[in-house]
Amino acid sequence: MTASKPGFATAVAHANIALAKYWGKQDSALNLPAVPSLSMTLSGLHTQTSVHFDSGLAADQLLINGQERQGRELQRVSKLLATVRSEWGESPFATVESQNNFPTAAGLASSASGFAALALAALAAAGLKTPLGRVSALARAASASAARSAFGGYVVLEAGASEAVPFLPGEHFPLVMLVTVLTDQRKEVPSTQAMEHTAKSSPYYPNWVGHAPRVFAQIRDALRARDFTALGPAVEHSTLAMHATLLAAEPGIVYLQPETLHVMKHVRQLRDQGMPIFFTMDAGPHVKALTLPEHAAEAERELARLPQVLRVIPSSVGPDAHVVN
Ligand code: PMV
Repeated sequence: MTASKPGFATAVAHANIALAKYWGKQDSALNLPAVPSLSMTLSGLHTQTSVHFDSGLAADQLLINGQERQGRELQRVSKLLATVRSEWGESPFATVESQNNFPTAAGLASSASGFAALALAALAAAGLKTPLGRVSALARAASASAARSAFGGYVVLEAGASEAVPFLPGEHFPLVMLVTVLTDQRKEVPSTQAMEHTAKSSPYYPNWVGHAPRVFAQIRDALRARDFTALGPAVEHSTLAMHATLLAAEPGIVYLQPETLHVMKHVRQLRDQGMPIFFTMDAGPHVKALTLPEHAAEAERELARLPQVLRVIPSSVGPDAHVVN
């Protein structure tokens, strides 16, 4: 893949939600994960990013949904661009324009799709080769969960790995993820900071690191076997074990809001009534419900009618990151 004009490229990457959660770093400087994780790439949530290297610029510029961003967000983008510039052997600054089709930084995996789209667009704009493993490694250095958004389908990021690997295509087991948006507010504690704090102060953290690989293996095996009755409980266990570790930090980190608990309870009630549906949450209040395609329409109606739910974004399994121009 090459850029359509020199120094310019646009790429799209889809968000992903971990079924087996990543939480904690094996190496903070290199940003390597402490535990293996496994995600589903989402068709319904994506970021489109254009990178334009321009020797006339005095600094990198970042626009997200048309608004100029500075500070930490711009620094993280510049760090990724610096890696690309050093591989390229050229040093122009760039304008980066990014559009999400979903709320930014509210715990909806915008950093995952954002850094994967940025990594691919930057490599393509520099005219460098863009194998998705390379895109994944570059995105991982910025945000480990972003490593998984390079690929479509179900994706694995092993503990200590520098890049994610595709595990199974979506057709193997086509599931549906219903993202319930519970607030449009930005999340309170950024995940990197929350991970450091958990590792330092939660007495449960060593147990989480010891236990997560077993939960990961259950989730991996259940997906391979297309066994939803084994998959669902393990997915709920992964997120609850992660949040338990966070709650036990000192002071505790509470991403779950009253609305979150309400929706979790409703998902379990639907299950008691016979619907195959399970929940997962990340570093934010929103609940993502996992179900089978034949139950998706009814599950979406049931969740959308709750007063705590602002909207529901349904997703089937999404594709690889790709260059669009
Ligand atoms: O990549 P980060 O720093 O945004 O970590 C996010 C980790 C979780 O979303 C909570 C879990 C995961 O595996 O995606």
